[in-house]
Amino acid sequence: ERYFAGSAILQGKRVLVTAGGTIERIDPVRYITNDSSGKMGYAIAEEAARMGAQVTLVSGPTALPVPKGCQLVPVKSALDMREAVLSRLDASDLIIKAAAVADYRPAVIEPQKIKKKSDSLTLELVKNPDILQEIGTLKKEQFVVGFAAETEKLDEHALDKLQRKNCDLIVGNDVSQEGAGFSGDTNAVRIFDRNGLVEALPVQSKQAVARRLLEIAAARMKPKR
Ligand code: CTP
Ligand code: CA
Repeated sequence: ERYFAGSAILQGKRVLVTAGGTIERIDPVRYITNDSSGKMGYAIAEEAARMGAQVTLVSGPTALPVPKGCQLVPVKSALDMREAVLSRLDASDLIIKAAAVADYRPAVIEPQKIKKKSDSLTLELVKNPDILQEIGTLKKEQFVVGFAAETEKLDEHALDKLQRKNCDLIVGNDVSQEGAGFSGDTNAVRIFDRNGLVEALPVQSKQAVARRLLEIAAARMKPKR
């Protein structure tokens, strides 16, 4: 259900949200991944749908139900997520990249289970493509929101990512702070644009963070021609 008629601030907008962590396979029974519950991205998708948007949620594996009114595109690896996102770029007005994408993947996926032999094992990892950075290069009219998960120097690192990846907004998330970060139901974030801090949101539900973030993005999006 919608809140009320006046809150449909994303009516007619096509919103693409990425959420969850990607998993990068080592062999048929093992993988590496990032800490991520997917809750922040799912909250954004759910709230965007309640605001009237047509929402596509590209998500790594999570334990969460599909948010009401959203179309789920399940993915596993960063390479899968890249394909799912880039193929939908032109059909999106607002892109919000809350996913915890693995920065590296195993250089080879072993076709058979790796057997334990020697006392140590070295895995070779190769860098994954930066999906957000590619979006920043390819985007036309789309409004792009990135996330920056940091454990120190939040403002500096977040602003640096915003510039490097050509985002319109970046959501700085101090994941070492009490009440913020991946697993809980609350978050505290600092939202930046090119000129610096736009708004600091104190610890509150991920639902409330999602709502405020979407309000800020909606207010800055170009009206449709
Ligand atoms: N991101 C992405 N593709 C990647 C890595 C990150 O699209 N391969 C996106 C994330 O979804 C997020 C933003 O980039 O919106 C920042 O992710 P983060 O991990 O904080 O930054 P990195 O650029 O990967 O830098 P680092 O992990 O070294 O801090
Ligand atoms: Ca990263």
